[in-house]
Amino acid sequence: MESPFRGDILKGKVAVITGGGSGIGFEISTQFGKHGASIAIMGRRKQVLDSAVSYLQSIGIPAVGFEGDVRKKEDAERVLESTFKHFGRIDILVNSAAGNFLSSAEDLSPNGFRTVMEIDAVGTFTMCHEAFKYLKKGGLGRSSAGGGMILNISATLHYTASWYQIHVSAAKAAIDALGRNLALEWGTDYDIRVNGISPGPIGDTTGMDKLAPQEITNKSRDYMPLYKVGEKWDIAMAALYLGSDAGKFVNGMTLIVDGGLWLSRPRH
Ligand code: HXC
Repeated sequence: MESPFRGDILKGKVAVITGGGSGIGFEISTQFGKHGASIAIMGRRKQVLDSAVSYLQSIGIPAVGFEGDVRKKEDAERVLESTFKHFGRIDILVNSAAGNFLSSAEDLSPNGFRTVMEIDAVGTFTMCHEAFKYLKKGGLGRSSAGGGMILNISATLHYTASWYQIHVSAAKAAIDALGRNLALEWGTDYDIRVNGISPGPIGDTTGMDKLAPQEITNKSRDYMPLYKVGEKWDIAMAALYLGSDAGKFVNGMTLIVDGGLWLSRPRH
């Protein structure tokens, strides 16, 4: 689908996108690039990175890929430094890397819980923390007065409770909380905006493959009146709004992009 935004709304910006080689992250990489940004993708899988970067370059988007695990501070530091060396600045950090699987609480080992917390919550904080010196007003490579922005990919499952997702619910709740706190501290003192997006069910993603097999049968959809599957494009358009000047007064907010699903109730 064609973008409703002008093609230069991110012109001159440099975005680092964790998990940007596949799924929602890759769509954000693509759309940010199509709207003028240079893209650095961070991910753990070399082939995924290589093919994502080749595609972006093939459509004329300046793009690089760096292998790294958001759980490792040294990887975060190295990838951000490499991006800075390559492009000369960093304006936007998108935290899209995530881990997930379905497990009942009784079967989930503490290490399984910790693993998802470390990828999603600690990984997000680590990336934000290491990106701070580039994103803050007057930071490295920022000759202009303004600061950069951070966008965290969250979820809606922790607004209520979700079966077999105790680990992810806890991690996404932490992401929302750290986003608000960073928005307060870094928005006030350093002109960095920090926002989130909570996607609903999005087609053609690992999350859907892993989380919505038998559960989302036609029968259970009857109990969710607003159930529709969104597109990765929907999330990327929300990211463009928040990441561009269109969203310049939005800070500390998590935008729900789920077609209204999270608030739906069965019909009586
Ligand atoms: C129960 C599991 C498990 C499973 C792993 N574990 N998979 N427990 N059921 N299916 C446990 C392991 O037993 C182990 O604990 C611990 O988790 C660590 O497992 P590892 O395999 O060593 O971890 P690792 O190799 O780092 O893999 C991390 C991962 C993996 C999260 C398990 O799936 C991953 O990296 N995925 C990345 C891609 C991904 O899933 N993306 C989807 C995002 S979708 P023990 O105790 O045995 O040592 C998404 C949507 C969010 O985020 C919300 C949508 C609504």
